[in-house]
Amino acid sequence: MAKDKKVDIGVVLGSESDLPVIESALKLSNELGLSYELRILSAHRTPDEVAKFASSAANRGIKVIIAVAGMSAALPGVISAHTNLPVIGVPVAAGSLNGIDALLAISQMPPGVPVGTMAIGSVGAKNAVILAARIIGLNNKAVANKLKKFVSQQKKTVLTKDKKLNARK
Ligand code: RP5
Repeated sequence: MAKDKKVDIGVVLGSESDLPVIESALKLSNELGLSYELRILSAHRTPDEVAKFASSAANRGIKVIIAVAGMSAALPGVISAHTNLPVIGVPVAAGSLNGIDALLAISQMPPGVPVGTMAIGSVGAKNAVILAARIIGLNNKAVANKLKKFVSQQKKTVLTKDKKLNARK
């Protein structure tokens, strides 16, 4: 993303292997009018770069950070330690514990350093983007309106399916 371009969300993956988890959520963020910066940075393998990213995010105009990580999943917590922006963590089913490890690691932050924890995997990634839209929508009418449209479309889809199912009887 160009340096001078406005970025709403910083999306950080602990590894390239986490990319499939976030792909459809990134499409949703386009739909909701949220611009994003996508980075691969690891709390363990590139700790200095994580600190630099997180501590500079607010000054660069980022409003919410979504951090996606599997296994010991320190990334969202370490990011939260370096910024006061809202940080949303998405656990990934990466190791032999199928994401339970990352879910517990991300949710068990010590008092004073919060991370909002989503469900494991792409469902959690989707909700992370919707939650970011809710936060950003507080001060951004265009995003709030797109979110309203998304919610009413979601409702319509369920009600259409219900109608179709009951028409078969
Ligand atoms: C975590 O370890 C990453 O977020 C990823 O989910 C997991 C495995 O990473 P790779 O070995 O595939 O790079 O830090």
